[in-house]
Amino acid sequence: MSMPKTLRTFIALPLSKTMIDQLAAVQRTLRRTCPERAIRWVAPENIHLTLFFLGDILPERVPPVQQALSVVTRYVQPFTFTVQGAGAFPDLNRPRVVWLGLDEPTGRLVLLHQAINEAIEKVGFQPEARRFSPHLTLGRIQRKASRDEARAVGQAVAQASIGCLGEVRAEEIIFFRSVLKSSGAEYTPLETFRFKGTES
Ligand code: 2AM
Repeated sequence: MSMPKTLRTFIALPLSKTMIDQLAAVQRTLRRTCPERAIRWVAPENIHLTLFFLGDILPERVPPVQQALSVVTRYVQPFTFTVQGAGAFPDLNRPRVVWLGLDEPTGRLVLLHQAINEAIEKVGFQPEARRFSPHLTLGRIQRKASRDEARAVGQAVAQASIGCLGEVRAEEIIFFRSVLKSSGAEYTPLETFRFKGTES
């Protein structure tokens, strides 16, 4: 019996070209001070803010998700967030994921995340159990990296003192398909959902 064909999918907020260029510049700076074999950098054009990771889903579950996202985004107004500060999961002493932080003090980003979670839950998906920590993943520590190399990455990130990189206007979310390749993940939009009152 053959396995059903599934799609690896997630929902994300895309970044502006200007911000992508800034992120690429930050990566170039960190590349100079991080041990090269310790970290795999995310291709700048692939960097986004993940709002919900669905994982592997059957193709018939795609339309209900699209329907849910279309309803949610009909009521969302565009908003702005800033990209500032760097850190690592779980922490800078033993980093696994190196990220940049986001700030959106009005709570609109948190509300958008909640609304998406609820809508996706209604169409049968388990909501994300972990607390929402909005971040942009810059790179992931390689499995082969030693503990000392990982720690050196954490120190490099701390010493880079990355401040505010500027603002991004949130105007749409994208339902992405992810195809994992040896060269890295390839993301293709399944559908884009623009917020209320935005021109496409
Ligand atoms: P990340 O930015 O924190 O690395 C596509 O894989 C996107 O889905 C990535 O941006 C990744 O988030 C996110 N994601 C969330 N949970 C995931 C999981 N369990 N496995 C892989 N990616 C996940």
